[in-house]
Amino acid sequence: MTIDTSYDVRGLKRIGRIVADCLAMMQDEARPGMTTLELDRLGAAFLERHGARSAPILTYDFPGCTCISVAPDAAHGIPGEHVLRDGDLVNVDVSAELDGYFGDTGGSFTVGREVPAHTALCDATRAALEAAMLEARAGARLNRIGKAIQAVARQHGYSVIRNLGSHGVGRQLHEEPKFIPGYYNRFERRRLHAGLVITIEPFLTTGASQVVELDDGWTLRTRGGISAQFEHTLIITEDEPIVCTQRSS
Ligand code: CO
Ligand code: CO
Repeated sequence: MTIDTSYDVRGLKRIGRIVADCLAMMQDEARPGMTTLELDRLGAAFLERHGARSAPILTYDFPGCTCISVAPDAAHGIPGEHVLRDGDLVNVDVSAELDGYFGDTGGSFTVGREVPAHTALCDATRAALEAAMLEARAGARLNRIGKAIQAVARQHGYSVIRNLGSHGVGRQLHEEPKFIPGYYNRFERRRLHAGLVITIEPFLTTGASQVVELDDGWTLRTRGGISAQFEHTLIITEDEPIVCTQRSS
């Protein structure tokens, strides 16, 4: 969507804060021995308490309230009987709707003990998100986002997952522009404009640059490595974007 009024900004920030707080809570609560379904239930209860509705359920009838992907799974993992283990690299993606506005956020983290290889990948992915956000302003070509992500990935010795991208959001979970690549496309003609609401969500990997869909019809798995993702919902301005998915406090 493109925002019209300050009312839109408030609505986007309200749902943005809820999904950001939900993600932070789920990361805090994730521990070895817990199933991904138990973790998802905590997220579901949190969204319900705040009057928000799970966007994956609303939009796609997804069999879970949030997406929980345990490495080597990269995205769209279905919460279930999988028991989290010490040292698992997990991605939680929380998207939800409130009052007709959608927020979408995600993050990767290690359950339990620290694993240096995971920390390095997560740090680089977070840095890629930050770098891309600095490029995302009114008038810029959309390919500035992918260019920035790819540069940070290469600098740290990682690849970008090419068939997962960022997207428009706001009135729906996925809107135009539907696919914003995480790599540089020199033929890109689309430009960002003030008020446009998009996500930026780099996926960096130690493995192959394409994820494959599993037989469950949802889960996207990294081949030959692990991957991490961090995601914010942003409003484009003439200057730095407004980050909707900020945690409270
Ligand atoms: Co997301
Ligand atoms: Co998204």
